[in-house]
Amino acid sequence: MDFERKIKYYHDMINKYLSEVFQEKDCLQKSVYDAMNYSVQAGGKRIRPVLALAVCDMLGGDINDAMRIAVSIECIHTYSLIHDDLPCMDNDDLRRGMPTCHKKFGEATALLAGDGLLTFAFEHLADLKGYKCCSPGAVLNIISDIAKSAGCAGMIGGQVVDLENEGSADITEKILTYMHNRKTGALIRTSVLASAIAAGADDRQKKALTQFADALGLAFQIQDDILDCIGDEKTLGKPIGSDAENEKTTYVTLLGLKAAMGKSKNLTNQAVSALEGFGDKAEFLRELADYLLTRNK
Ligand code: IPE
Ligand code: IPE
Ligand code: MG
Ligand code: MG
Ligand code: MG
Repeated sequence: MDFERKIKYYHDMINKYLSEVFQEKDCLQKSVYDAMNYSVQAGGKRIRPVLALAVCDMLGGDINDAMRIAVSIECIHTYSLIHDDLPCMDNDDLRRGMPTCHKKFGEATALLAGDGLLTFAFEHLADLKGYKCCSPGAVLNIISDIAKSAGCAGMIGGQVVDLENEGSADITEKILTYMHNRKTGALIRTSVLASAIAAGADDRQKKALTQFADALGLAFQIQDDILDCIGDEKTLGKPIGSDAENEKTTYVTLLGLKAAMGKSKNLTNQAVSALEGFGDKAEFLRELADYLLTRNK
């Protein structure tokens, strides 16, 4: 299957699963379910779940088990976006081409919808009956890796460093890399690693895949910084110029546009090189890395 067809195949699978899980509910707390459904089903590139499914396919794992991991991480990612857009964080009005969750449902419901998605992710991950091949021990390792990546040592930690450095003139590349590796890199890394654990990867495979994901995650956030400057709002589905408005230091403000582009290209090459040992089986992941480098949304 060529790259375009394969990514569409993964997208369709992910979106079908999400639409089955996230259905309208008739209860007194309906509003929070509506807000969760709204943000999860608004679309998005689904890069994290695509990575999890592609790693599973490459390693010959069970796709149903990988799907449980993939969708749970997409829920955590969507929660991070809902909170990232809140007035107390980046204060943005547009996400995935639609009004942000708090614009549509109000701040309190958006906050709780984010909490609901995060909590649901771990409920879904811990449902042992839902796995076909993973042993309970492997499930525990998966949950632990995802929790660490989403938490204060990972995504939340990166978001804190991001917010605390708004307006700061002396943020170094070292700090910026630290921040990007956490706020964005951590969930990308666990999408790859948790799926590799589920597929029974050995230490050598896990090491190579971690190198792949770390380079890819950093390249992905640099590209996000670039698109915030030179992207098109309609294509991107979120505001451009948000970083400048919030006085964020990004790879573009620190290195300049050209050097930021060069850095993202080098990291993509590093990511691709890390896959060498997987031979032809890694073709889709290699193409995905290149596709992300040239993305415009
Ligand atoms: C946006 O992530 C926030 C970052 C961590 C860079 P994505 O660019 O993956 O957003 P969606 O899921 O496609 O909307
Ligand atoms: C946010 O980075 C990363 C997370 C949501 C964890 P950004 O603030 O740059 O993401 P966008 O540009 O709003 O999607
Ligand atoms: Mg942000
Ligand atoms: Mg933001
Ligand atoms: Mg951004």
